[in-house]
Amino acid sequence: MTKPVLLLTRRFPDAVEARAQRDYITVPNPSDTPMDGAAIATAAKNAGAQGILCAAGDPLNAATIAALPDSVKLLATFSVGTDHIDLAAARARGITVSNTPDVLSVATAEIAFLLILAAARRGGESERLLRAGEWTGWAPTQLMGVTLEGKKLGILGMGRIGQALAKMARGFGMEIHYRNRKQLPAAEEAGAIYHADDAGFLGAIDVLSMHIPGGEATRNWLDARHIALLKRGAIVVNTGRGTTVDDAALCEALAKGHLRAAGLDVFAGEPKIFPGYLTTPNLVLLPHLGSATIETRDAMGFRCLDNLDAVLIRGGAALHPVG
Ligand code: DGY
Repeated sequence: MTKPVLLLTRRFPDAVEARAQRDYITVPNPSDTPMDGAAIATAAKNAGAQGILCAAGDPLNAATIAALPDSVKLLATFSVGTDHIDLAAARARGITVSNTPDVLSVATAEIAFLLILAAARRGGESERLLRAGEWTGWAPTQLMGVTLEGKKLGILGMGRIGQALAKMARGFGMEIHYRNRKQLPAAEEAGAIYHADDAGFLGAIDVLSMHIPGGEATRNWLDARHIALLKRGAIVVNTGRGTTVDDAALCEALAKGHLRAAGLDVFAGEPKIFPGYLTTPNLVLLPHLGSATIETRDAMGFRCLDNLDAVLIRGGAALHPVG
């Protein structure tokens, strides 16, 4: 049987590319330069691709999807987020979309907790001080942060990542509060406190960790109004999608001291960064590292290939369909 043709829009981990090469006629992107929509559609057309292994940030909008050849049956995205894909346009063309749930929850929660620790204990400022050669030695009042033990962590979006974070934070003695589309009995059995409204939730917590999807429904969710509902001195971290934060409002709250510190792993319009962030000292910035562990990236790639195999090799349904 002829192997199906698979377009890879980025360079993926070696083990993932090796398995793809074994089972598919692959069209790789060894330079790893992000492809624009026209380049994806042209490459898919030229190769007669049946599957596309794509990644977060690939512009799979309505125009790109309209330009894909009829041969394309599955878009397997190497991400749990699907805000870069116009799901309705894919559905209208009969193209299935699959994602990579579960396998990146712990890695992403670790990055959320890294940001919480770094923001609370002023990790970014401290590193910059040392590297600038400006450390004059230990001092009783230097770079004092806040202790996390006993503080209230508010998890916005209690999905798999939020639940993994709750488990880690409990180990640090934090009290867990959450806001979610629905109440989760299992989370509550583990001691998490559910809030039915934003004001009650934001007013109760010391640290806010954001885990909501991107897209129009959540655009600028953390705006000046919601920031004002947080306690003075609260900490905010975001490992979900950058579009959920009003950048100017966050910068202003950090500059004025309403927020003590923040940590961001995701940005609207990546890889561009809101200029105000670069000069805000009490803000820790990471380049979208949530799922970036060797184990997790392999698992994400294998999950994509499992979906591609199910559809393109076995002729069945995707294992993790979206939309
Ligand atoms: C995701 O999976 O959506 C991440 O943001 C990319 O690792």
